[in-house]
Amino acid sequence: MTASPIEAELGREVALRRTFAIISHPDAGKTTLTEKLLLFGGAIQLAGTVKARKSARHATSDWMEVEKQRGISVTSSVMQFDYAGHTINLLDTPGHEDFSEDTYRVLTAVDAAVMVIDAAKGVEAQTIKLLEVCRMRNTPIITFVNKLDREVQEPLLLLEEIESVLKIQCAPVTWPIGMGKRFRGVYHLLENRLMRFAAGQERVGTDTERIEGVDNPRLDALFPDETVSLRADVDLLRGASDPFTLEQFHAGTQTPVFFGSGINNFGVQEILQALVDWAPPPQPRDAGVRMVEPAEPAFTGFVFKIQANMDPRHRDRIAFLRVCSGRYSPGMKVQHTRLGREMKIANALTFMANERVASEGAVAGDIIGIHNHGQLHIGDTLTEGEALSYKGIPYFSAELFRMARARDPFKAKQLAKGLQELGEEGAIQVFESATGQTLLGAVGPLQFEIVAHRLQTEYQVDAVYDAADIHTARWVTFPDDNTRKRFEKEQALRMSQDVDGNPVFLASSSYNLMVTRERWPEVGFHATREHG
Ligand code: G4P
Repeated sequence: MTASPIEAELGREVALRRTFAIISHPDAGKTTLTEKLLLFGGAIQLAGTVKARKSARHATSDWMEVEKQRGISVTSSVMQFDYAGHTINLLDTPGHEDFSEDTYRVLTAVDAAVMVIDAAKGVEAQTIKLLEVCRMRNTPIITFVNKLDREVQEPLLLLEEIESVLKIQCAPVTWPIGMGKRFRGVYHLLENRLMRFAAGQERVGTDTERIEGVDNPRLDALFPDETVSLRADVDLLRGASDPFTLEQFHAGTQTPVFFGSGINNFGVQEILQALVDWAPPPQPRDAGVRMVEPAEPAFTGFVFKIQANMDPRHRDRIAFLRVCSGRYSPGMKVQHTRLGREMKIANALTFMANERVASEGAVAGDIIGIHNHGQLHIGDTLTEGEALSYKGIPYFSAELFRMARARDPFKAKQLAKGLQELGEEGAIQVFESATGQTLLGAVGPLQFEIVAHRLQTEYQVDAVYDAADIHTARWVTFPDDNTRKRFEKEQALRMSQDVDGNPVFLASSSYNLMVTRERWPEVGFHATREHG
């Protein structure tokens, strides 16, 4: 079948999209790399030091008050910029492990990820978890080994560690010469040239000295001590390491590895180039009843994140929607498939590095922000009429529980409203127990603090959070209505509903969960739930 002119044009635009996230353990250098990618992409003019940026952070990519107080990245954000004729959508993810749920959802909206490894610390706990999530969707990973300007681990050992711990084959693309004070640069194994390291915050790519060929006498003249071992390394790598193949990279089984120093803008441009040259454009997506091609003319997309207070001057909530096919155009009418109702997207937003602007149009791979008054939940699908529902946006069962009540009983309504909204946003999980109590479930303890803070500042509710005798929650599914009724009757005290009205079993202990499971083999107990 030949594509219509509309599809052909969409296909051309989609092919130029690259949508990715950066994943790392906190402190490995994700924020620094983000900033430097924006600098190289021309999206910001001056990177400054990370410290300076961190203190002014709320002004650029992070908005929340809590963030300012704690100096950690709580919310994810989206940044679009152009590079080498491509439109790059960089989705930021919170680094703190308490917000990993949010990160997981962001990862469902990307087509590739850049993994940052601190070369001194190697593979760390959070990296392992995040990579597991990437693996669920076989997301292609580009690896950036950072901080070579410090005394770090031997690069070969690092590769071995990545391969054995993360179970992904490494294909080194650049190779470092020296480290710490003697870090000389990286040798590009595919292009056969050395890029000489020079420290500096503001240098942008083109002034890096390049020396062609590993046998170039200039290398001996410049680095008499290191050149011999560089040649030996290059020989070894060419003989023993796995050559980079696009096919394996796209399958998520092999990662191209780059070395550098984010803070010194070194090795950053190669990452951008790899994204443009190798990372896949938007791919077909599973929408339940069928796969949807990105260049199909009808608009579709799904909400992967809801964020409040992006603009401190207005109390607003934005639903972030990843476009999966067709084209968004201002004022278009779409079908909200969960509610089975039409809605108009009046003025969607596009997020640039420093500002948000009215979106003039968006195609697959792009992210638009939709002003949300509660009608959009995480996981919702919007289409131009077809009843589709995008799959795979995870909700994880909470590990920590508290019961919430307003200190002032007259504020109970405000509390319920606040929790409903924060629950829809995914800031916390909210359950209504069969006995009428409101329960909060979190994956990390910091989530409770943030919710308490936001309830106070945004909803003017001072709430009390009592300990709850709950060990874990499981979404339950039933083979038939009769089983559901019998189960709900027997387990009335342990039953609740999540914000979307799904039944949830609240186990008092792992023993309680085990026994209930054994008693009810026909009931499904699920630790994760897909939205929608
Ligand atoms: P994150 O978002 O992954 O948490 O990391 P971030 O970029 O904030 O970087 C963490 C620290 O690592 C920062 O130090 C940053 O300057 C430093 N860093 C990032 N890239 C490099 C690099 O290439 N070389 C070296 N030597 N350091 C790098 P900081 O803001 O001073 O914080 P801290 O060191 O006081 O914690």
